Amino acid sequence: MTTANSTDTVKTIAIYGATGITGGSLLTELNRRGITPILVGRNADRMHAAAAAVGLPAAEVRVADLGEHDALVAAFTGADAVISSLPAYVDHGEAVLAAAIDAGAHYTDLSGEQLFLKRVFDDYAARAVRAGVTAVPGITNSNLPGDLLGYLTSRRLTGPVEITMSLVGTKEGNGSKGSAQTVLAGLDWFRSGGWHFQDGGLQTGGTARRGEMTFPGATEPTIVSKFPQPPVLTIPRHSDVSYVEGVLETAFHSQLSGLSAEIVESLPNEPTPGLSYDFVVDAFGADGRAVRGVVSGPDSYVDSALMAVEAAVRLADGAAEAGVLTAAEAFDAEGFLDALAPFGITWTIDER
Ligand SMILES: NC(=O)c1ccc[n+]([C@@H]2O[C@H](COP(=O)([O-])OP(=O)(O)OC[C@H]3O[C@@H](n4cnc5c(N)ncnc54)[C@H](OP(=O)(O)O)[C@@H]3O)[C@@H](O)[C@H]2O)c1
Repeated sequence: MTTANSTDTVKTIAIYGATGITGGSLLTELNRRGITPILVGRNADRMHAAAAAVGLPAAEVRVADLGEHDALVAAFTGADAVISSLPAYVDHGEAVLAAAIDAGAHYTDLSGEQLFLKRVFDDYAARAVRAGVTAVPGITNSNLPGDLLGYLTSRRLTGPVEITMSLVGTKEGNGSKGSAQTVLAGLDWFRSGGWHFQDGGLQTGGTARRGEMTFPGATEPTIVSKFPQPPVLTIPRHSDVSYVEGVLETAFHSQLSGLSAEIVESLPNEPTPGLSYDFVVDAFGADGRAVRGVVSGPDSYVDSALMAVEAAVRLADGAAEAGVLTAAEAFDAEGFLDALAPFGITWTIDER
């Protein structure tokens, strides 16, 4: 057990996937906060090396494969919270979630897949309630800003509100191989644009209602296409919305749609450093007013890890109710976003 500097309470946090790119950022941030995590994964040597690389040579390592439920439960037992950092959650994600719940540990992850998120909400909520566990899946630099800004912007308007949101890369570069594997595992879904929310439910098909967006700092609009953003599922759980869609610059969407196993194999493991971004949420009230919320940050990958650690530390406090929750249901939205300011992650909401 170690003491977290931020809140002065004793916490134990376990990470599954600590040997990956994001795992390194998770370990670095936990170490900075004075938390020595338990590393759980399939290879002890790689986990010891990952811990040592960030100055945590004494961190405990526990070996458990994704196929070994009992070993995973044993590995997570005693942890206050688990962070799962795996590629392709649609294929690999459920084992860690199920074991964390059965071990009585709160849970968060960096999934970015609508299909995984829906499965977590539909299939694990009752199990989490029974175990007294809070699970908040999908904490990344897209999903967290999307959900929290969806919550905050919709409360500044008369509902029901319509929302269009997009991630905007503000530096050229490539993502990690892990992210590319995630897109490849759900390629048809990413190509199709996935779900948008309309008429009280999730809908497939169709094109973006707002086919262009003028991004922060731009004078001309950018053509965008429907894209499967996870906050399409989470925002309607807490806000009075009639329509929610994710979009992405069409040129970038076409590039992602062309991914193949050969391309993914040829990619470097590491993403381009300093992939800065804006996450933009445009909300339109029933009374004709509109507001724009923006979260901006210096590095998509590092920032996603910082957000996941902030979520895990808050979950480890045990203050949120049991069940599968969205970020806005589990955390104070403004307080969470403000806590990211020391890392250069800023947020604004302005009338348009
Ligand atoms: N903005 C975003 O949306 C965003 C940002 C950051 C990260 N992410 C997401 O975070 C996830 C991790 O990304 P990453 O780039 O850090 O990936 P990565 O570098 O490939 O790391 C993957 C981790 O998962 C483990 N792993 C992979 N397959 C496994 C298996 N079959 N059994 C057990 N362990 C397995 C690896 O352990 P081994 O050492 O044993 O191989 C490694 O620790 C991805 O889903 C990515 O999309 C999203």
